[in-house]
Amino acid sequence: MSEVKTTLEKIKELEEKNDEAFVGGGEDRIAKHKEGGRLSARERLDVLLDPGSFVEIDKFSTHRCKNFGMDKKKFYGDGVITGYGRINGKPAYVYSQDFTVFGGSMSRAQANKICKIMDMAVKNGVPVIGLNDSGGARIHEGVEALGGYADIFLRNVTSSGVVPQISAIMGPCAGGAVYSPSLTDFIFMVKDTSYMFVTGPDVIKSVTHEEVTKEELGGATAHSKKSGVAHFAADDDKHCLLLIKELLNFLPSNNIDDAPILPTTDSPDRIDESLNSFIPDNSKKPYNMLELVKTVVDEGYFLEVQQNYAQNIIVGFARFNGRSVGVVANQPQVLAGCLNIEASIKSARFVRFCDAFNIPIVTFVDVPGFLPGTDQEWNGIITHGAKLLYAYAEATVPKITLITRKAYGGAYDVMSSKHLRGDVNLAYPSSEIAVMGAEGAVNIIFRNQIKEAKDPEAERQKLIAEYEERFANPYVAAEIGYVDEVIEPAMTRKRIIDSLEILKNKKDTNPPKKHGNIPL
Ligand code: HXC
Repeated sequence: MSEVKTTLEKIKELEEKNDEAFVGGGEDRIAKHKEGGRLSARERLDVLLDPGSFVEIDKFSTHRCKNFGMDKKKFYGDGVITGYGRINGKPAYVYSQDFTVFGGSMSRAQANKICKIMDMAVKNGVPVIGLNDSGGARIHEGVEALGGYADIFLRNVTSSGVVPQISAIMGPCAGGAVYSPSLTDFIFMVKDTSYMFVTGPDVIKSVTHEEVTKEELGGATAHSKKSGVAHFAADDDKHCLLLIKELLNFLPSNNIDDAPILPTTDSPDRIDESLNSFIPDNSKKPYNMLELVKTVVDEGYFLEVQQNYAQNIIVGFARFNGRSVGVVANQPQVLAGCLNIEASIKSARFVRFCDAFNIPIVTFVDVPGFLPGTDQEWNGIITHGAKLLYAYAEATVPKITLITRKAYGGAYDVMSSKHLRGDVNLAYPSSEIAVMGAEGAVNIIFRNQIKEAKDPEAERQKLIAEYEERFANPYVAAEIGYVDEVIEPAMTRKRIIDSLEILKNKKDTNPPKKHGNIPL
């Protein structure tokens, strides 16, 4: 008869199991994985989470697949480490795929583990951060693995707008596996070691005869510059995880929480005289809107989102007197700040994220209109531009708008105007609020008068000057209350902080509905 184990022996047995689980696919595989400078799945969690805060769930979970001799190949955890801990002192649920176990591939057991923490995250109002490093669906398991993915997709969707969801791509991510990250709020990629694509280079070559490398096709650079799929491109694993921590510092834990307020040494009354000469006198001359934003936010600190994509619009997070805000700003340095398809999609998604998570939106406007051209029209600028209009119109968070220079045409309406429930609408004396620029306007409405004039060019110039005098200013809008206040630029920071303060208990709603029908 076998002897009953003592408690100490049972504890030793637990320790042995813990040790086995700790090394995933084994020391050799971990060493191989780290050859390219990557961190192991556990090291990644060490960097992401506050020291000593990680609590692992389902550590001893294994797959139940019997196909292809899999019943003889089992590893504790089954290729993903799941659990919870604290990031910047606040709770977070996390998962980290372990490439050393079947290439981190998605099994039924792995999906169950991820679904469990996603369900807990929603119940407890806590963000979910997924560190992805996987060869995709576990090939041995077939449809069970596909079902596992779909179970995660469903949860990504039902959690959307309830708790922040963040994905880091830290290795391969191919096929349908890309769709869980794409359903989350922010995607981080690591340069040179991560890639995302629906079909890889080999399939592309056989179907379209295009030759492309994995990195060119779906690396961090491709997705942060060309496709806009990735919101951040990090230099290495550690940089990626630190960036995630930085982002989380701006976010509430859930959709009922308020945006966080952090202490700042930057005075709310700081007046910056340099801003009075910041906007060039010549309205055709560009300037760097990013510089203006950085001048007025707390300590000049701005976390830009999608920095290298659709650079004609800037989006990102900053603080005013400690309070998190989302910033949207036209960039006159790129495409003169025009709204095009990419910029509309980029900023609409950002505005909706801020609105879902109670983060006030501060909009800096210098926009000559929508970008003209057949390319834009045929690719649907009507539908895509409407996304931004829709996003601003439905947003009920505090909305502060500052027109620094041009606010022309439909783009004036779109960019958080009073008419879309802008709460505080400010303008610089240099602003020009009109249906279009003076030249274009005169050429249309005075076409005949110019043609018939003795000196048509002199007549045209005279009419342009008159139009500018009448409309190239903020005062018509200020007379009718579309602009609440025309401010001296030096006062920008103070006025935005005053506005955020008065709006801090703002309550506004949309009519009850199942959901709206944003033009997708
Ligand atoms: C099971 C897998 C696996 C998978 C990798 N492995 N991918 N096991 N299912 N999907 C295993 C390998 O057999 C190997 O095991 C170990 O992981 C490491 O893989 P390597 O190939 O040695 O690594 P590497 O050379 O770095 O190449 C990584 C890779 C490659 C590019 C990801 O493994 C690969 O192409 N894997 C298959 C990718 C794929 O087609 N997945 C299915 C996509 S479709 P050993 O024991 O030898 O170390 C999909 C559908 C999802 O995912 C649909 C959702 C809706």
